[in-house]
Amino acid sequence: MSAWQLDGEAATQAFAQALAATAPAPAVVHLQGDLGAGKSTLARAWLRALGVTGTVRSPTYTLVERYPVPGGEALHLDLYRIGDVGELEFLGLDDVVARLWLIEWPERGADALPRPDLRVALSLSGNGRSARLEALSPVGERWRDALAAQGRLPGLPEPKP
Ligand SMILES: Nc1ncnc2c1ncn2[C@@H]1O[C@H](COP(=O)(O)OP(=O)(O)O)[C@@H](O)[C@H]1O
Ligand SMILES: [Mg+2]
Repeated sequence: MSAWQLDGEAATQAFAQALAATAPAPAVVHLQGDLGAGKSTLARAWLRALGVTGTVRSPTYTLVERYPVPGGEALHLDLYRIGDVGELEFLGLDDVVARLWLIEWPERGADALPRPDLRVALSLSGNGRSARLEALSPVGERWRDALAAQGRLPGLPEPKP
């Protein structure tokens, strides 16, 4: 398990670019962390890295926002305000050909969604944020190891073990 120090939003963008460049397809990612931990900032940067140029809306009330990207769709979910996991059934996500799932507040219902490959755990660290990667599937293990093997990512300091 390795942790990256993300000092400022530019560092989050660099990290998102590295994640986007190495992601398997499909990839299911849980974005974990308290309010303000930087989950939406990371999600927005990741979508930008995939070429999304229009407005990236927060899925706080809609639960999901969908974006066409090369090779399928990117889905950004925020389950913070979900009342009941049954609400997920009404989103019509069963037949989606998704290349990427980015799920904020997965602990509130992502059991009803595809099984995760990677957890990105974000927390406050100094004036910035710390990001820890945890593999949740064999695909996720290879992904995490590939990122760790790159060592220093462009624009970021060495990860801490
Ligand atoms: N790496 C970072 N360093 C410093 N501030 C950050 C970083 N990432 C995000 N922030 C700031 O943290 C605040 C909350 O970010 P947000 O992504 O909305 O959090 P969350 O979705 O986890 O609630 C925003 O003001 C954002 O600019
Ligand atoms: Mg958010």
